[in-house]
Amino acid sequence: MLRSKISGIGMYVPKNIVTNNDLKKYMDTSDEWIQERTGIIERRYADRTGETTTTMAVEAASIAIERAGITPQDIDFIVFATLSPDYYFPGCGVLLQRAMKMKEIGALDIRNQCSGFVYALSVADQFIRTGTYKNILVIGSEKHSFGLDFSTRGRNISVIFGDGAGAVVLQPTEEEGRGILSTHLHSDGEGAEILAMYNPGTHANHWGHYADFKDAPIAEMFMSHEMIDNAQNFPFMDGPSVFKKAVVKFPEVIMESLSANKLNASDISMLIPHQANLRIAQFVQQKLGLRDHQVYNNIQHYGNTTAASVPIALCEAWEKGKIKEGDLVCLAAFGSGFTWASALLRW
Ligand code: UT7
Repeated sequence: MLRSKISGIGMYVPKNIVTNNDLKKYMDTSDEWIQERTGIIERRYADRTGETTTTMAVEAASIAIERAGITPQDIDFIVFATLSPDYYFPGCGVLLQRAMKMKEIGALDIRNQCSGFVYALSVADQFIRTGTYKNILVIGSEKHSFGLDFSTRGRNISVIFGDGAGAVVLQPTEEEGRGILSTHLHSDGEGAEILAMYNPGTHANHWGHYADFKDAPIAEMFMSHEMIDNAQNFPFMDGPSVFKKAVVKFPEVIMESLSANKLNASDISMLIPHQANLRIAQFVQQKLGLRDHQVYNNIQHYGNTTAASVPIALCEAWEKGKIKEGDLVCLAAFGSGFTWASALLRW
């Protein structure tokens, strides 16, 4: 039976470290509030003009490709997850294909925010299992620091997010019990507006979650001075509602992956939860009865890097020797959409 295995992994975070105290220059916040509510101590911000979502992805991908023992020209498909693309369109997949001088291969962009990487991995896994492709590059990359409201008005969101990228190369394996065992994807669009960036968009307030602008000229429905003046071009989040749903769906989708493979929580060697909030990860750990060495968290140093958080944490855990051959690794994510997902793999 053909399965996908991760044969190379890489991560990249910008050099610029931004502490909680640094954020006090822009907004009314405190190191105590941020650490107590989220566990975050610091995050990285990309160089304003020198780095983009795509350039960070190239850094992470180069490491993953080298570790897989191949070259960019061997990659035969790209799956790129981000919510902070260089352009509204086209997506980052083609920019990465160009930057890495790859062949004229397919480049797919995934829009599933925090669960984007696990969704991307699942898509790539299907192409490997069917024998369609042999070297797939799967990426999560984000440059959040460009799209946040740094005034006190946006503090519940802006203190959480950070920049960075993670990438893996997936290849087929016929080794018994090795590689991605299963993936599980879910959504509930009832929560779409609870964590969202409404503008620019084509909604024209059709869904009724936005100030009425029926009489506005069409050009101003997409992006207007008023939107910018009112910070309506920044992400919106009802944090407590997201938190409540996350602590239910995280354990549910992890248990789903375990029972699909007739395994228990105690079998997990390493859980890599999407780094949304350390308090969420701790809740999930407690709910599943996992010991500290079975869960890897690094939100303390990178903040929430949405689609990049799972591959960054996976890469860092592996680089530190915390993931070894034969280990049962569970990846799980929950976020905007709502969407949530898990992947269970034997390293
Ligand atoms: O990865 C995407 C998925 N996202 C998540 O999973 C996020 C889930 N939600 C959360 O992690 C939490 O809801 C937050 C960390 C975002 C917020 O924590 P909270 O305990 O839910 O706080 P809150 O939004 O209920 O706000 C509590 C208070 C408010 O003040 P009042 O109204 O009680 O006076 C906020 O204005 O904290 C205030 N506040 C802040 N104070 C200092 C909000 N943000 C800040 C801040 N610094 N940065």
